[in-house]
Order: sequence, then structure tokens, then C-alpha cells
Amino acid sequence: MGFVTINGRSVPIKGAKTVLEIARREGIWIPTLCNHPGLPPYGACRLCLVEVKAGAKPGLAASCTLPATDGLVVETDTPRVQRTRKILIKLLLERAPEAEVVKDLAKKLGVVPPAEQVAAPETTRCILCGLCVRACESIGSSAIGFAFRGSRRKVMPPFGKPALECLGCQACVQVCPTGEVVFTISGNRLQGEPWRSEVELKECASCGRLFAPRPLVEHLKERFGFDFAGEELCPECRRQAMAAKLAETILPGAQG
Ligand code: SF4
Ligand code: FES
Repeated sequence: MGFVTINGRSVPIKGAKTVLEIARREGIWIPTLCNHPGLPPYGACRLCLVEVKAGAKPGLAASCTLPATDGLVVETDTPRVQRTRKILIKLLLERAPEAEVVKDLAKKLGVVPPAEQVAAPETTRCILCGLCVRACESIGSSAIGFAFRGSRRKVMPPFGKPALECLGCQACVQVCPTGEVVFTISGNRLQGEPWRSEVELKECASCGRLFAPRPLVEHLKERFGFDFAGEELCPECRRQAMAAKLAETILPGAQG
């Protein structure tokens, strides 16, 4: 079995793929902003930096993408690591001064956000973590992606047009750490910002309630073969229909 030395302690790798996974398992706190256990690592925020001392190229490395290999020696909280994290979080504060998750992390890292920071018109709450892009890819829609380089870099639908491929699954809302992505219902449409997406909601055939984005239901059926036996019904009406059917089967004539 392989071992990694982390903060002077030798710990077994035991199936962990990255140093971040080991640190979490061992209760060692490493700040992260672009990592999600259900999505492939991307190494965007760099806040999870650790210092490699031996067993791989020495220097700073993002622990979420650093493979846990036998003989690796890392430190998670050296002065160099702390200094670099502070620089990174300050840059994120400048980019997204209103993102609570950034402000909270800055405080935790000993960086105090300026008391009267006024958000410039071009600031955003997007920290370019890419979680929404990876979530959208993993669902299979890839309605959004990164565009441009350097300071112009942003996440958006292809060619900056409304996200026509959006399924309305709202996985991007679930994973976005800053609240930059918002979906709202208008009539029978579900609208997503900043993607400018719009999808139709299905109406329950029984109670008339709007309950699921139509393209999502179709996508799940096509891609995963989900058998939506009662796809015309909302979950509540489906549950009631199933209960009624069950009662009829187990207690025939009970309702008559
Ligand atoms: S919109 Fe949210 S999830 Fe997507 S890159 Fe920006 S901060 Fe990350
Ligand atoms: S969590 Fe590792 S780079 Fe963001």
C-alpha cells in the first residue's frame, strides 16, 4: 500500500486519487473554490495549493489535481502557501467583491475585504471556477463554456447567444458557489441568467401544476433511458396514482 506524507504525517493512500482527497479524509483543511466531489477537478482557483517537498516536482501545486502517489511529501500551510493564497483571494475579491463565499474565505485566510468596496460596473459574482461548465457537460448538454482569454475570460453560451442547448436542469445553480446563476419562472417558461436560456415547463396532466422542464424530461429519457411511466404527471399526482393502483391491486374492490 502506498503512503503520502502530509504535514509531516505519513498516511496511507487507500484509494485516494488526489492529495486534496487525502487531506479531506484526514481532516486537514485546504481551501477550495472550484472543487466538487461529483465533478472532475479542473484546477481553476488555485486556492488549494500545497507545497511539494519530495516525490514530485518541488514547489506549489494544486492539491485537487495533484495525484496521490507513493512517497509524495507535501505541506499544506507553509508561509509560501499562505502568501500565495492571500494573493489569489485578493484577486478574487477584486473580481467578485460581492460574492459572499469569497469574502468569507478571505476572512478565513486573514485578508480583510476593504470596508467600503464599491462594485465597479464590470465586476461580477463569477469567479471563473468552471463548476457550472463541468456540471453542464456531465449532464450532457454543454450549453455553456469558457470564452476569451485573460481579463476578458468569461463563461457564456456559444457565441454569446442565448443558451439554446439549455435543458433547464439547473445543475449550474446547484454547483455555483457564488449565486451568479439564477433561474426564474415566468408563465410556463423557465428562464436562466446569465445564460439567457428559456425552456418550457411541462404541465401536470392531472392537477395542471408546472413541474419539469420539457427538454430535460426528453433528454433523460433519450440519454439514460429513464422510463417516465407517468411523465405526464407531476411527482405528487404520480405518487397518488401509484398508491391508488397499489390499493386496487392489494385490496380489490376496497374503493368501490
Ligand atoms: S457562474 Fe458560478 S459556477 Fe460558473 S464559473 Fe462563475 S462562479 Fe463558477
Ligand atoms: S480547488 Fe483546486 S484549484 Fe480550485
